Amino acid sequence: MVSTTQKTKETIKPHGGELINRQVKGQEREQLIEEAQSFPKLTLNPWSLSDLELIAIGGFSPLTGFLGEKDYVSVVENVRLENGLVWSIPITLPVTEEEANNFEIGSSIALYGEDDHIYGVLNLEEKYTYDKSKEAQNVYGTTDVDHPGVKRVYEKGNIYLAGPIQLVDRPKHDEFSDFHLDPSETRELFKELGWKTVVGFQTRNPVHRAHEYIQKIALESVDGLLLNPLVGETKSDDISAEIRMESYQVILKHYYPEERTRLVIYPAAMRYAGPREAILHALVRKNYGCTHFIVGRDHAGVGDYYGTYDAQELIAQYEDEIDIQIFKFEHAFFCTVCENMTTAKTCPHDKSKHVHLSGTKVREKLRNGEQLPKEFSRPEVADVLIKGLKQN
Ligand code: ADX
Repeated sequence: MVSTTQKTKETIKPHGGELINRQVKGQEREQLIEEAQSFPKLTLNPWSLSDLELIAIGGFSPLTGFLGEKDYVSVVENVRLENGLVWSIPITLPVTEEEANNFEIGSSIALYGEDDHIYGVLNLEEKYTYDKSKEAQNVYGTTDVDHPGVKRVYEKGNIYLAGPIQLVDRPKHDEFSDFHLDPSETRELFKELGWKTVVGFQTRNPVHRAHEYIQKIALESVDGLLLNPLVGETKSDDISAEIRMESYQVILKHYYPEERTRLVIYPAAMRYAGPREAILHALVRKNYGCTHFIVGRDHAGVGDYYGTYDAQELIAQYEDEIDIQIFKFEHAFFCTVCENMTTAKTCPHDKSKHVHLSGTKVREKLRNGEQLPKEFSRPEVADVLIKGLKQN
């Protein structure tokens, strides 16, 4: 952990100063749904639907819609919106050329999910083409289509639709309803709990001892921990959100102080954009009201595309501007001589004394119904994972 100072402000401001809310309620909503029946229709895939939701609930503040061309180019090239505000990942709505021809600039489009339910409306301000290899290279650091994020870039339509959105219905997260809070609600919650400083933790994996170690070191310096796992689309070999959510609940119950931790879902899609996505993750958690955010080893990485500390190095360049404070952690592991979780910063022993398990190895063991070493995972967590994977 690098940082030791604390923010003591009452509440941290959302990115750009204002928490965006594009949800339409009551009479206005009824009317918009009625009108939308005559709008041309676009069906969003789960990825775009989760972007729509995150914009509408303020998770992506200051965005009020899908990015127009100037903002898009500026984000891809300069890690900033056109107005200079730091923003690292283009939030865009891709369609095919054929689909784009159905929509006229200045018109409204009814946005449906794959379940044929209407979720929102887009006021179409722009349609534009974009350079896929530039987006891949700048945002993901590679044009290799084996990278799951880059693969998506090359698969999606050639045109981006842009403009402000309104949300008429929330995508359902019924299976996680006890953990479903919007940024405005987590902000309220932190106030009620009296937490002035809150560390946010992003994860797309079942919780292991290194996660627990870095979360608890961070928790020594702040009032509360927001465990904020991503539950939107992930690559197919990642462990499902349902199983992961169970693993988080079980570890919180057995090993964390109830009054200092809260579990809330982050309903976004995973991009695997490493350093760039670490910045997005931090900005979103600021919008949820966190004052601090954890970036550990190879944050939001995949395969060998990023160096272990690339995400920490990139985010460090923007730290003064983004306001949320970053807790950076070395790669943590269990040392059998120290008999403790540790890092190269604090452990003098040889690598042969350290317990390391790759993600692939972990999944293999779990699928075979084998327990994980207790130095790697809490047994209660491993039990949940083994049971969950058996049922899948
Ligand atoms: S991520 O793709 O959501 O970043 P993951 O769930 O594995 O993946 O990691 C969540 C957070 O824990 C990230 O900040 C990551 O850098 C950090 N992390 C994961 N494993 C370790 C580890 N062994 N040591 C230090 N930090 C780690």
